[in-house]
Amino acid sequence: MAQNTQNIDALMAEERTYPPDPEFAAQANAQAGFYDQDPDEFWEKEARERITWFTDFNALKQWDRPHARWYLGGRLNACYNCVDRHVENGLGDKVAYYWEGEPADERLTITYADLQSRVVKAANGFRSLGIGKGTKVAVYMGMIPESPVTLLALARLGAPFTFVFGGFSAQALGSRMVEMECEYLVTQDASNRRGKASPLKPIADEAMDMAPTVKHCVTVRRTGSDVTMKQGRDLWWHDVVDTQSDDPASCPCEPMDAEDMFFLMFSSGTTGRPKGIVHSTAGYLVGVATTHYYVFDIKPDTVYWCAADIGWITGHSYIVFGPLANATTSVIYEGTPDFPDKARWWEIIERYRVNVLYTAPTSIRTHMKWGAHHAEQHDLSSLKVLGSVGEPINPEAWLWYRDHIGAGRTPVVDTWWQTETGMIMVSPLPGLTTLKPGSATRPFPGVEAAVYDEQGKEIAPGEGAGYMVVKAPWPSMFRTLYGDDERFRETYWDKFPDAYLAGDSARVDADGDFWLMGRIDDVMNVSGHRLSTTEIESALVDHPDVAQAAVVSRYDATTGQAIVAYVTLKEGAEGSTEKLAELRDHVGTQIGPIAKPANLVFSDELPMTRSGKIMRRLLKDVAENRELGDTTTLADPSVVDELKQRSEN
Ligand code: WT7
Repeated sequence: MAQNTQNIDALMAEERTYPPDPEFAAQANAQAGFYDQDPDEFWEKEARERITWFTDFNALKQWDRPHARWYLGGRLNACYNCVDRHVENGLGDKVAYYWEGEPADERLTITYADLQSRVVKAANGFRSLGIGKGTKVAVYMGMIPESPVTLLALARLGAPFTFVFGGFSAQALGSRMVEMECEYLVTQDASNRRGKASPLKPIADEAMDMAPTVKHCVTVRRTGSDVTMKQGRDLWWHDVVDTQSDDPASCPCEPMDAEDMFFLMFSSGTTGRPKGIVHSTAGYLVGVATTHYYVFDIKPDTVYWCAADIGWITGHSYIVFGPLANATTSVIYEGTPDFPDKARWWEIIERYRVNVLYTAPTSIRTHMKWGAHHAEQHDLSSLKVLGSVGEPINPEAWLWYRDHIGAGRTPVVDTWWQTETGMIMVSPLPGLTTLKPGSATRPFPGVEAAVYDEQGKEIAPGEGAGYMVVKAPWPSMFRTLYGDDERFRETYWDKFPDAYLAGDSARVDADGDFWLMGRIDDVMNVSGHRLSTTEIESALVDHPDVAQAAVVSRYDATTGQAIVAYVTLKEGAEGSTEKLAELRDHVGTQIGPIAKPANLVFSDELPMTRSGKIMRRLLKDVAENRELGDTTTLADPSVVDELKQRSEN
């Protein structure tokens, strides 16, 4: 039997439960009655409690399906909420970020006052170049203090941004800048990764060649690597920023409308073209601050660490805006978990007495593979809550996480959400929820999640699986797809007349707990990164030697899913080992290294239906070494046998 089927069976059979620890429950932010709150009253109360408004809102929400508007009439500034007000409230000396650089002895402690000073200088510098309210800016950076500083400075000025993950290619960065019509780009020379400088500015240069709207590029010197600076266009961060005033009055926080576009985050969809997911200012901030506070049980002295990259939505919501809005002390680190050695994370937890760790199942499984002895060398007794995000967590990894990292005592919160939702949607609350390994348990208060059948009827608890949906708008929901409201409607709102289609399958068990089971569409999840099969197929077909390509995913014990590509070459091209490497690299340059197929199989033919469609379902069976599904519509059944043989070789 294929392993992923075993995995699903394991999930179905999982019956262990972990009720909350009474001591934890007594001190928790969420107390009994938390789930009984009226959604509207809840979101109104949280908005007033967690956010400081320049002008109060006069209506909670307006729902003109599929368009939601929240906190109408309200005016606010995200940077003011994340930085300035904390300094004004006497928290200037509180640590905002402990930054752990690579090399590992390079460290910084950044207080809220330091952060304010850095942000004001950067904002003044950006403003001197012409960035102001409404100017669109791209950010292509690694995990250095200037990353959150850049986002906060842009928020201060009211400039919408798109942060493109540093692992993406020039093509990916360029096309995103073109799509958003960015006028500026902020980057760094290179970032430190496993003792080497991993270039960013050279890739940014290539991307800017594609994006003529970019007038200026500001580059942080991080590694000192050689870069080319184009006269008139390229500037060094230190020249632009260092001489600026850090007096907050010299650069006041721009009052923004609640609904002003805050940022764009591009994410893979089912077609080759990434979707520009639009987030608003007020709803987004209320959503991430509220969920961060309750799900991770944040206290004034909590030391919190989300080990994601700022370049993903997880980083935006739970490294930058959620934690800072709550005046939390966080850890940020540059580099990888295995450099200089595999105990790096546990060393960091011990050093800062970290209370909350938030990471992805793929990282947990990687640590499992490396062995618990790395963690055992360190004092992890400060940990109180462990979080998981990005893909379904298998019970084995969940139990390992709780036992070996959490000493068998910490709650594990499995948080389900998406780039589109902006905030955590389904998750345990650590002091209230009885945990089940592999279940994200219950929708957050004010989130009306459900599971629908094909006809759009709600499936009752314990009655089987269906489509994961949300029946009412929530504050941090994405507002549209940038420049493509039609695709927004088609992708998410056309399937059911009264609910948001998340794109995942799920079931609700007899206790009302949600079990998320993976995507229903052609979107893959590799190490918690979302990738589209079509996007990778287009990248392959873009190579001059490729005639046709079909991409599927197979089960992988560490990365969750792995990419398998079947490729038919054009006449005259040869399926050699070199060609294989060349095609994988080609995908790397088109999309980014994370999109390189784990396996690539050359084939003279691909299994086609008689109507000429590639049968991906069969390819998936081959990739997973499973009994073949229905082959009756196949034009030439021998093609599959041939492929099976090739895949085994
Ligand atoms: C997709 C969204 C949320 C930030 C990181 C990914 C999958 C996410 C879980 C979870 C099962 C999960 C879903 C979802 N997913 N968290 N706890 N359990 N599946 O954001 O790139 O927008 O991907 O990730 O399939 O649709 P994203």
